[in-house]
Amino acid sequence: MSTDEGVVEIVVCLGSSCFARGNSDNLAIINSHVQSHELNVSVRVTGRLCRDECMQGPNLSIGGEIHHGVTTARLRELLQLLGGPSRSGHGTA
Ligand code: FES
Repeated sequence: MSTDEGVVEIVVCLGSSCFARGNSDNLAIINSHVQSHELNVSVRVTGRLCRDECMQGPNLSIGGEIHHGVTTARLRELLQLLGGPSRSGHGTA
């Protein structure tokens, strides 16, 4: 997972297919996770439009790594990789 100066960017596909197939819930989970955990990295959450990968959706990327078919359970696993509590870090959404 790559970071840019301690910032991890999470990019969520907001195209209609991905959104309907789970990214609506995933976006809420990401925001909740970032707000309720003190992470050792800062998180920037952005959206993007459809990239014609709908059949593999819901799609999102974390730190530049693209993930397909991201269920809520899988998302929770991925978010755990962002690390634990930090003395100075905080998330943004
Ligand atoms: S809606 Fe996400 S790739 Fe098409």
